[in-house]
Amino acid sequence: MRLIIHPDYERASRWAANYIAGRINSCRDAKPFVLGLPTGSSPLGIYREFVKMHKEGKLSFKNVRTFNMDEYIGLPASHPQSYHYFMMENLFNHIDIERQHIHILDGMAKEPEKECKLYEEAISAEGGIELFLGGMGSDGHIAFNEPGSSLASRTRIKTLTEETKAANARFFDGESSKVPVTALTVGVGTVMDAREVVIIVNGRSKARALRAVVEEGVNHMWTLSCLQMHPKAIIVCDEDATEELKVGTVKYFKDIEKNAVS
Ligand code: GLP
Repeated sequence: MRLIIHPDYERASRWAANYIAGRINSCRDAKPFVLGLPTGSSPLGIYREFVKMHKEGKLSFKNVRTFNMDEYIGLPASHPQSYHYFMMENLFNHIDIERQHIHILDGMAKEPEKECKLYEEAISAEGGIELFLGGMGSDGHIAFNEPGSSLASRTRIKTLTEETKAANARFFDGESSKVPVTALTVGVGTVMDAREVVIIVNGRSKARALRAVVEEGVNHMWTLSCLQMHPKAIIVCDEDATEELKVGTVKYFKDIEKNAVS
């Protein structure tokens, strides 16, 4: 796993956006580039960079297929706090992706289990995810794979923890009781199947989880620690997020990155 530390969120976001844009632009064959995407505040800087690059003519999403990580159960796409709405507002409305190439789990699906099964099938039909971009919850979760989730899990229904509801209350008038209790989410196994995973982590509120994910062992109580088993994983973070890491750990990763080849 690479840990790439930048002085601040803007620089971390710019690095991640440039890296992913480079991967998309280098995919020149007929095969589409299949990109997994998250919501939340963490990827917003990357999405702003994507839009900027697109407007400057440096990045096209014509050949990109996207699969979002998750969606709240019970929120229609038109709900301002749904992840459908978030993605349209913050990315898809501003780039040249074809609407039929956007995949987001339907939180209003009458048969949620079937919706999850079809989602996994749709990912497979596209040849699997090339690069999964993600964020991390303050309890170390990836997508909505809360502590204790199976590290072999696939797309399914999950119940949100109090910590996640409290963290996401800021989008629901500050009231955690308004945050949906359940969500549809890709599994840890679904993320692990991606050929590459890039995670953006910023701020002190993520420091405790980043320490567990980077310095402790693989553990279902910090589901992002699964990355330790991934052949090609990168965590891009700001200095604030490294607050709980050992000085030696930070120095070690900074040293290796000085001589990194890509
Ligand atoms: C939610 C999302 C995750 C996201 C996390 C962190 O739980 N399901 O995909 O990584 O929030 O959100 P934020 O980036 O706002 O801190």
